[in-house]
Parts: sequence; C-alpha cells; structure tokens
Amino acid sequence: MSHETGAETKRLIRALKGMSVDQTPIWLMRQAGRYLPEYKKTRAEAGSFLDLCYNPDLAEEVTLQPIRRYGFDAAILFSDILVIPDALGQTVSFREGEGPVLDPITRLEQLDELDTGSVLERLQPVYETVRRLKASLPAETALIGFAGAPWTVATYMVGGRTSSDQAAAKLWAYRAPEAFQKLIDILTEATILHLTAQVEAGAEIVQIFDTWAGSLPEAQFRTYSIAPTKKIIHGLRAKFPGLPVIGFPRGAGALAIDYVRSTEISGVSLDTGMSPAWARDNLQTLACLQGNLDPLLLVAGGAEMREAATRILKALSHGPFIFNLGHGIVPQTPPDHVAELVEFIRAAK
Ligand code: CP3
Repeated sequence: MSHETGAETKRLIRALKGMSVDQTPIWLMRQAGRYLPEYKKTRAEAGSFLDLCYNPDLAEEVTLQPIRRYGFDAAILFSDILVIPDALGQTVSFREGEGPVLDPITRLEQLDELDTGSVLERLQPVYETVRRLKASLPAETALIGFAGAPWTVATYMVGGRTSSDQAAAKLWAYRAPEAFQKLIDILTEATILHLTAQVEAGAEIVQIFDTWAGSLPEAQFRTYSIAPTKKIIHGLRAKFPGLPVIGFPRGAGALAIDYVRSTEISGVSLDTGMSPAWARDNLQTLACLQGNLDPLLLVAGGAEMREAATRILKALSHGPFIFNLGHGIVPQTPPDHVAELVEFIRAAK
C-alpha cells in the first residue's frame, strides 16, 4: 500500500486507500439501532422493520441519528442483508425478539421460482435513501453501502432463521454442491446489481458482511466465501475502478490472508477473536484493517473498555486502520459509552 498525501479529504477513504490520516477514523457496525431511543421512536412509526428499510424518509433519518450524536467518520446506509431474499421473492419477516424468519428454500426447483429479474426495481427505495443521504451528510462523512456475502445470505435463505451452526445450508452444500452453487451464483449476481446501484446512487465505499464465514471448512470457505466475494469485487471494479471495499469474513482466522489476497479487497474488518498483533503482522501490508473492540466492552464501558481500545490502537494505528467493533453494537449498549469511546479515540494520537 502507498502512503500518499493526495486530495481526498474523508478519513475513512484515505485509510482504505493507504493514505496518511490526521486521526484514526471511527465508525461502528450497527451504529444505527435499538440502543438509541430515537431509533426506537422512528422504528415504531415505521411499522415493520422492512417497512423502515423501504421508507427513504425514515431510513435516511435513522442512518443520520448516530452521525448527529457522535460525528462518526462514516454513515452506513440503513437497510439489511435480507432485502436481497425479499427482493428475490422469498417471504421474509422480522419478528420481535425472534429475529428474521424466512420460508426456507430447500430444493433445487425452488431456485427457479426466485425472481432474479426484479431485484433492482424492488430495491429502488433503498437507492433513493442512498441518494438522499449523499445530499444530506456532512462533507467530511463517508457513505458506506453494504450487502451480505452470498454464503451468509444463503444460510438465512436455506435455514429460515439465524442458526448457531448453519447446519441446513452446510448440509445442502455437502449433499448437493451443484444445486447449492446455483443459489450462490444467483446471490452473487443479485449482489453485484445491488451494490452497483448503491454506488451509482452515491455510496463511496461498500462493505460485504460474511457473518457466518467462520463456520466453513477451508475448502468450502474458498468456494462459498472467497470465490463469490472475489467475483463481486471484480464486477464492481469493472465499473468503478479503485472502489474501496471492506470485507467482514467473521471467524475466518488465518484464512483471512487468502481471503484478502484472492479478493483484492481494500479493507478487512477483524472480528472480536482476532489478535490485533497477528493481523498487523499478517494482513496490514495487504489491506487496511478495521476493528475490533468487543461489543460487550462497549456495554461494560469504563477503564476496561479504554484499556482494550488502547491495546487495539497500539497494535494497529501505525498502518492503515479504521477503529470499529469486532461485531455489531448490541441493543443493551448505553449510548453514553459510545460517546465516551468516540471521545477517547478522537483524543488518542
Ligand atoms: O447501522 C447499521 O449497521 C445499519 C444497518 C444494518 C442492519 N443490519 C440493521 C438491522 C446492517 C449493516 C445489518 C447487517 C446484518 N443484518 C447482518 C450482518 C452483520 C452482523 O451483525 O452480523 C446480518 C447477519 C443481518 C440479519 C439480521 N437483521 C438479523 C440476524 C437481525 C435480527 C437480530 C437483531 O440484531 O435484531 C436483523 C434485524 C436488524 N437489522 C435490526 C437492525 C437495526 C433490528 C431490527 C429491529 O429494529 O427490530
């Protein structure tokens, strides 16, 4: 990576391009959400969670809420990784206290019923939200678009809900690799369209969430996580050369090296369990690193949180680095602790 000065002014983009920064950029995964009282208020107005995702006025509002409060270096579009199965025509709902519920897809024939031709049309409200955000964000705030990685989205489409072992998707992949690959290919193509539309609408960076990457053995990790991610990035960069892309291959461990090398991703988001020193030594010459404070340290707050943040900064802030969590903010997080963390990172040199 080069260390140019350059004209780019947004810290997050500078870090992803390997340029010097005046301060460590910070944003937090799931920075909009139920830990904020103002989110709960807007969420109640919206009706269902998907109604919120597809309402550009309200989705813009909840995206901006954490920016107003904390002045993060980036806003992340308010949406969800499961808008893709929804746009493909699978029945998706979000139930209070239960998380997402989908009508599971378990047979090859069901793949033919997916409506692959209407994704862009059905997700127009999401792109409208991006356009509005682009116009309303402060000049120094970068705008991140996102999608789930095909493997992670497939685990929900096949399992029908969040599962701790992703057994349904894994068993389909092991028993019928060709059928499962067809689902991965459908999702890869839909994701390229979805992220391209977000960039065209004004997203400056995209993040690909592979939350369940760590449950795959090496061979399947290469086939279902690395290969589709590489295809998505190549598809995007054919249109937008140099587009900064961040990957979150949660739980990939040492396979993160091959993930970064093969996909040519600009940044890699480290999960909570990843050693910052190991990541510095093995990944930071290949990509910008992002992470990786335990979200529960943000719940605990205080000296323990500050000491952990200091250890992360010490290990990683000498190369291209974005401060973040090792996974998303949890609902029980006190908003004051987030303010305390941001102040602490801003004051660190
Ligand atoms: O601030 C942001 O980060 C913005 C948007 C965002 C959401 N989901 C909003 C959301 C993003 C980037 C996501 C990503 C997402 N969604 C992932 C990948 C990241 C990760 O956390 O691992 C996954 C696996 C999902 C799927 C999903 N969506 C689940 C499992 C759940 C239920 C669990 C939960 O946290 O509630 C959701 C719902 C969801 N997505 C909420 C929000 C704010 C809460 C729903 C509500 O308000 O009722």
